[in-house]
Amino acid sequence: MKNRIVFATNNAHKKAEVQAVLGPDFELVTPRDCGVEEEIPETQPTLEGNASQKARYLHDRTGLDCFADDTGLEVAALGGAPGVHSARYATDGHDFAANNRLLLRNLAGQTDRRARFRTVIALILGGEEHRFEGIVEGRIIEHETGDEGFGYDPLFVPDGYDRTFAQMSVEEKNAVSHRARAVRKLVEFLKNVER
Ligand code: IMP
Repeated sequence: MKNRIVFATNNAHKKAEVQAVLGPDFELVTPRDCGVEEEIPETQPTLEGNASQKARYLHDRTGLDCFADDTGLEVAALGGAPGVHSARYATDGHDFAANNRLLLRNLAGQTDRRARFRTVIALILGGEEHRFEGIVEGRIIEHETGDEGFGYDPLFVPDGYDRTFAQMSVEEKNAVSHRARAVRKLVEFLKNVER
């Protein structure tokens, strides 16, 4: 029988990425599937705090086992920005194009292009919280390249590659991505837990 687990996202891209890593033994359920229509609050100053806040909120609303992730793009030359503010870097909304334009503007003339994505997952299982982290190192290129993925994908080239995440299939991105690395740790943990 499949293990159903609630994932605190209504972002179809993210859901597909995570489902591909989880494999067929797990069935992801979205907040909307559980009748949670409102935006889940994420008002904490760290990725850890936000992941925890979202997972706890969803657990309180549904009573189900659930997990939430929070991701930031941490750019060395910008002192780790946009970091926890990655979604709302340029505007109040999730305007990917505006975020990418602002990032390029803030890095104009900068030769140190090192950046990393960091994902923190908070899992609430049987009322207890567990955390998992995934990191991918890379660099920010000068122009948006590629049509796949979302967010900063068209600007991010992971170490060891000469293509952006936006030029990769879901499978290729999942081989190295921050979120996939964190999810693989989550899967290992879930497989070893008696359910
Ligand atoms: P979230 O915490 O996963 O919602 O991520 C916050 C923001 O980071 C998103 O709005 C995106 O701008 C960016 N982001 C997160 N994951 C990725 C990714 O895999 N590729 C590119 N950008 C991402």
